Amino acid sequence: MPFLGMLPAVRRDPIGVFMKAAREFGDVVYFKIGPRRGFLVSNPDAVRHVLQDNARNYHKSPLYDKLRMFLGNGLLTSEDDFWLRQRRIAQPAFHRQRMAGLAQMMADAARDAAGRWAPLASTGQPVDVDEEMMRLTRNVVVRTLLGADLGPFTSTIDSAWTIINQHIGESFWSLGFDTLPTPKYRRFTAARAVLRGAVDHVIAERRRIGVDGLGNNDLLSMLMGARDEETGEAMTDEQLRVEVTTFLLAGQETTSLALTWTWYLLSQYPKVRQRLEEEIDAVLQGRQPQYSDLAHLPYLRMVIDESMRLYPPAWGFSRQALADDEIGGFTLPRGWLAFVIPYVLHRLPAFWRDPDVFDPERFLPERAAERPKFAYIPFGAGPRQCIGNQFALIETQLTVATFAQSYRLHLRPGHTVDPWPLITLRPRFGMPMLIERRARRAHRVSTK
Ligand code: HEM
Repeated sequence: MPFLGMLPAVRRDPIGVFMKAAREFGDVVYFKIGPRRGFLVSNPDAVRHVLQDNARNYHKSPLYDKLRMFLGNGLLTSEDDFWLRQRRIAQPAFHRQRMAGLAQMMADAARDAAGRWAPLASTGQPVDVDEEMMRLTRNVVVRTLLGADLGPFTSTIDSAWTIINQHIGESFWSLGFDTLPTPKYRRFTAARAVLRGAVDHVIAERRRIGVDGLGNNDLLSMLMGARDEETGEAMTDEQLRVEVTTFLLAGQETTSLALTWTWYLLSQYPKVRQRLEEEIDAVLQGRQPQYSDLAHLPYLRMVIDESMRLYPPAWGFSRQALADDEIGGFTLPRGWLAFVIPYVLHRLPAFWRDPDVFDPERFLPERAAERPKFAYIPFGAGPRQCIGNQFALIETQLTVATFAQSYRLHLRPGHTVDPWPLITLRPRFGMPMLIERRARRAHRVSTK
């Protein structure tokens, strides 16, 4: 459309528009979205170029401004030297060995949550699996990384996130930021206040018991203990708040969605579910999963990978070129955007046969080796790759293993599942599911 370009269409259905563009017009597609121009980049080599090889030429795009206005300048939203400093401070908390050490807490949290489902199983009462997973992953982040609890905010924080995600997600494509005092905006500011209260509570609590009061050198103690190399100063309270909010958002929301979409897909593909149950029963023999079991549960990992292929929780992101660049034979002028949309990349027929089918065997090592690495990027890539990817993978595997040991989930009959591309990819109408209790298979079955 004149002036607006693709804006109305993208606002209505971003995934549909990007998907159609990539399928009809190829690897690099020109877009004008309101005042912004850019390329949809859906060739793995070009994606590698933007996110990794020539990452220095890119900043996160102005589309992040809405998120930045809300979160502040922190690890997810900042750039250059400041970003590098924050990344270096946080990185040790995500060391592989530390992740392994956190696995027990993750497994215990999953066991406790699964235990609470027992009275609901086989009653015909649906549970909101999206809400349940959100509660679980929030508990895990708060316990393992922040070493605190949310006190009086525990019961209100999840619905606050939903309001915030919706408000920011829906305004992503709008030209301004909707700050008129409408009821919707008031709901947003109230939700923001809940979140701020929760974050302040966490920080105050840790100050009260001392930075290392819990005797564990977790993420929050690293953030609180960090000192500027030149000035020797600690992070200001405001900066600390930004980072704690970032980790609450980035750590809880995406992981919980990966789980919710996995439960949905397993309910639609009973053969996959059966094979998963066989593997879990054979390996665990009914005991609680541990970090060391994960190496022996290859199908479980393939299920999670395939679920994040079809429903990548971080469904799309974008960059802005700092100088002219060449992408797939076209010049991307300075200031233009590069749209990288995992949802689209993960369903390109050139790399994924029957792309809409849930088939975990695509992730068998020999089949994965046939694909370009950048055809699959649920955690992004390059220097800005997700810092929590190992954390998320361990948590999702332990959680699925724990729940699938005892339950089968069935989508409530008649329920419509509609992916909703906000900041993250949520199910628009939630995910009500019926819980069936299942008996463990007694015999040992080959997982090959
Ligand atoms: C399934 C779960 C997860 C998914 C799909 C996911 C996805 C992503 C993606 C795609 C990015 C890069 C965005 C971009 O390049 O613009 C990212 C960055 C980030 N993620 Fe995750 N994430 C997940 C879990 C986590 C967890 C558990 C944490 C922390 C506990 C976390 C913390 C972060 C942070 C702090 C960044 C910014 C890193 C930086 O720019 O240096 N994420 N995530």
